[in-house]
Amino acid sequence: MPLQAHTSSNLLQPPQLPYPSNNVNHLFPVADPFLNLPQHQEAQTANPRTTRLSLLRCPSSPSGNLTPNPTYMKSSLTKPCQLRVNQAGELAATLIYKAQTPLVVRQHPHLRPLMAHMYDQEAGHFATFNDLIHKHRVRPTALYPLWSVLATGLGWSTALMGREAAMACTEAVETEIGDHYNNQIREILEMITQWEAEGYQVSAEIGELVKTLRRIRDEELEHLDHAVEHDAKKAEPHWLLTGVIRAGCRGAIWVSERV
Ligand SMILES: [Fe+2]
Ligand SMILES: [Fe+2]
Repeated sequence: MPLQAHTSSNLLQPPQLPYPSNNVNHLFPVADPFLNLPQHQEAQTANPRTTRLSLLRCPSSPSGNLTPNPTYMKSSLTKPCQLRVNQAGELAATLIYKAQTPLVVRQHPHLRPLMAHMYDQEAGHFATFNDLIHKHRVRPTALYPLWSVLATGLGWSTALMGREAAMACTEAVETEIGDHYNNQIREILEMITQWEAEGYQVSAEIGELVKTLRRIRDEELEHLDHAVEHDAKKAEPHWLLTGVIRAGCRGAIWVSERV
């Protein structure tokens, strides 16, 4: 009978867990993060929003320390400011390639598939972080228009300097972005280790985030390899060009974490 599932007696039954409730030895086996509170905390209500925000460390937070709130299940994602930075960075990447491609391809038609491939991957990264900031109610950077103008200008100006300079731009940007994602992945893995040491299980959500970050990091490093293979090092003056762009990326990351 369809109505049987809604009888009051059934409602009093605890939910059936798809895994042993006292199993803390696996990283991401949790189908529903809020079914998995430690035994002594089961009676408390987990607030998803409080849970997420309580675990985040941003420059604007009072302590700046990683202070997990032990009241709740460890279902948090990473810092909201990092999702904001990631989304802004991917926006910039799509605009750089969009500005570079017509000029580069006009002079070097054989690079069309490569430029299209890198643009398509950046567009995918941008869509991923658009979804994540929407899902986790993280506001985009307030400097969205400024980054848009600067990224387009960077792409256009380096492409105007030639193929080598355009590739040196990719080399510089991807070097910084690769480091940025690596740091984020390392930080999340450290948080997971700490939470497990405290006796918590980690939700599938954060495992998915780590997988996503690793995939995107690998694709950024693939772009870096393509740039070097296509003579990024021959840009003149390579040290100045890449130094300025890398410093600009670090500055943009720092500002986007805060604004
Ligand atoms: Fe990207
Ligand atoms: Fe990239």
